Amino acid sequence: MREFDERSITQAVIGRLAECPDLRFKEVMTSLVTHLHDFVREVKLTEPEWMAAIQFLTDVGQACTEKRQELILLSDTLGVSVLVITINHPAEEGSVESTVLGPYYWEGAPELPRGSNLAEGVKGEPAFYSGRVLSTDGRPLPNALLDIWSGDGEGNYDMQIPGETGMKARGRIRTDAEGRYWFRSIRPTFYPVPTDGPVGRMLRKTGSHPYRPGHVHMIVSAPGHLPVTTHLFVAGSKYLDSDAVFGMKESLVVQFKRHPPGAGPDGERLDTPFYSVDYDFRLRPAAPDRA
Ligand code: BEZ
Ligand code: FE
Repeated sequence: MREFDERSITQAVIGRLAECPDLRFKEVMTSLVTHLHDFVREVKLTEPEWMAAIQFLTDVGQACTEKRQELILLSDTLGVSVLVITINHPAEEGSVESTVLGPYYWEGAPELPRGSNLAEGVKGEPAFYSGRVLSTDGRPLPNALLDIWSGDGEGNYDMQIPGETGMKARGRIRTDAEGRYWFRSIRPTFYPVPTDGPVGRMLRKTGSHPYRPGHVHMIVSAPGHLPVTTHLFVAGSKYLDSDAVFGMKESLVVQFKRHPPGAGPDGERLDTPFYSVDYDFRLRPAAPDRA
């Protein structure tokens, strides 16, 4: 027979892992139990608070559907997603930094010719994007793929627009022989993460706003190199200093240069002001012997 007090219970729970054959799982569980018990002791968690936490986690799980991942949103808004990404994808040797994937990625966007307009019929001010994909040693990477998606100029992704069933402001563009890419889309604006579920309730209770600064998403990949899930953030956008999911990285903030109505970079005349953006993505070789 053995009973436990508020200290000895921690070692007792860890002791149950003694026979765990998976050493990494054992290490993670040991640390999790240690921190969880320390947390409960530190805040002297009351029973109503513990019950409220159980109810909250139950609500988060129940809010998940095929189309909605409230648990990832919880991880995002608690900064855990970016912490995991930052630990696992260090921006070494000048490689482009990673940030969150987010819930609006839609696999299978059409591969379009360079120079295409990804945002045909999408609300927002036109923006022309260009630059190169390079290896960290400066070598241009031909045939690199940019899988691009963004919300519109009002902050809505295609999936959020009632009645919209097709892909909008999405596309895949490959680099040319010199590693260059160029395409047209819109200048994205800030928007809120979904707030109609338990995570929204949590944000309101904590007094935090739900907004992300304006950004365009990309997954950039190239043969023999590590792919990167990243964004380009609009310099000067509201909420750059307080991204609701902590995903902002200064190295990803770019100037959207404003131009008066006239000929765009592709020669086509625009009768509204438009923007241009230039950014080079540097990727790390997948293994040293392939550099
Ligand atoms: C997004 O940028 O699309 C996003 C990321 C995390 C949570 C919600 C939205
Ligand atoms: Fe986004």
